[in-house]
Amino acid sequence: MPDDQSRTNSEIVARYREKTPKSEALFAEAKAIFPSGVTHDGRHLDPYGIYVDHAEGPYKWDVDGNKYIDYYGGHGALLLGHNHPKVMEAVGPALAKGTHFGANHALEVRWAQAVQRLMPSAEKVRFTSSGTEATLMGLRLARAFTGRHKLIRFKTHFHGWHDHMASGYSNHFDGTPTTGVLEGIADAVVLVAPNDREGVRRALEAGDIAALILEPTGASTGMIPTAPGFLEFLREETARHGTILIFDEVVTGFRVAPGGAQQHYGIRPDLTSLAKILAGGLPGGAIVGRADLFDALDYAATAASGKEKIQHPGTYNANPVSAAAGIAALEVIRTTDACARANALGDRAREKINDVFVAEGVNWACYGTFSSFHTFLNPKGRKLDPHRFDALALDYEEVKAKPKALSHRIRVAMLVNGVDLNGWPGGNISCTHSEADIDQTAEAWRATIRMLRHEGEI
Ligand SMILES: Cc1ncc(COP(=O)(O)O)c(C=O)c1O
Repeated sequence: MPDDQSRTNSEIVARYREKTPKSEALFAEAKAIFPSGVTHDGRHLDPYGIYVDHAEGPYKWDVDGNKYIDYYGGHGALLLGHNHPKVMEAVGPALAKGTHFGANHALEVRWAQAVQRLMPSAEKVRFTSSGTEATLMGLRLARAFTGRHKLIRFKTHFHGWHDHMASGYSNHFDGTPTTGVLEGIADAVVLVAPNDREGVRRALEAGDIAALILEPTGASTGMIPTAPGFLEFLREETARHGTILIFDEVVTGFRVAPGGAQQHYGIRPDLTSLAKILAGGLPGGAIVGRADLFDALDYAATAASGKEKIQHPGTYNANPVSAAAGIAALEVIRTTDACARANALGDRAREKINDVFVAEGVNWACYGTFSSFHTFLNPKGRKLDPHRFDALALDYEEVKAKPKALSHRIRVAMLVNGVDLNGWPGGNISCTHSEADIDQTAEAWRATIRMLRHEGEI
């Protein structure tokens, strides 16, 4: 079935169309303008995604007036839910003062200090506009510092969409370049299987490795989890080889703990890429870390060392409105139990959804760590107990493999049942979700399973 063409006899799709006519009409216009009608690959849904009008806390409402419990959470940015009062109070006045000064401003200093307060490894900070730009600069700083060329990455881990990060997160696991990427760039990336210690050792020993980057809690925020002890191993091995260890905490930063995964695991990376929660739901990112690595961006330091400075413009770096939102969000995270609450809700979601999977007799598992949840759709039909599911016990390719048509149909049925899941299928939970929201989500899964069964999808 082509990606954007639904089976016409699906009752689930018929109910979805009935519920969302205004979204469908907007999609018809969008299709004429955007490739596949969307502005982000993650928003691609068969037959079409909802068009959202407004949002509040853990909920959003589409243009037809339907309310959904939201697990997209701004692609992970909204640990504090939509429109957190403290963030909104900060953004309004900042917006009124001006959207862009083309100059330094006090808020960028306060924002960086707020990061440092939560994340002591952030000896220096350089703001960017996105997580993609943060990992791009991280790699460049590592190359400048080490004089080496190559980057170790883990298959399935995602670090944005720039050329060095394109192969091996959802395809091209053999390291060949994806469409539009030069072979020379793909050659500079060494892809290693998740948790493969031997692979890491071999790659480091082969030499010329400037940096190793990973999502510390595992690919896609724990879809392919990181094995216990692996981060410690990476810290030791990279230090031994003079390779820069980069934690990509674009999602986990300020989510799994106020100080990110590095606080939770007690491991200090050399560099950390940040975005999403960093900017309180507005655009923004940063690369932060060891002070000496940032000399390459510093006019005086490079003049003294005789090295060429890395240039770094960026129109929206440290945008004042993003800074205001970020300062407010980080302050809430520092002074409340927002992370712990979202994590506890994550445990509840996994438990309740698995109860439904057992009761309804599907061989799936809801799993994950902290405030994220994933669904293993069991493409090989293994017998499993979802409450004891261990994603580490399976090959990463099996865990990563998503039956595409079924995943889309699940998401559409969940929308019919009032829940917006992301494409894992799963989501990120905010501290504003209630226990009742979680329980309602589990019931939406029950209704979804029954609908799928009724039309012979499972
Ligand atoms: C772990 C990780 N790194 C980097 C990025 C890229 O961030 P951005 O979308 O802000 O470019 C993402 C985005 O989802 C991410 O999840």
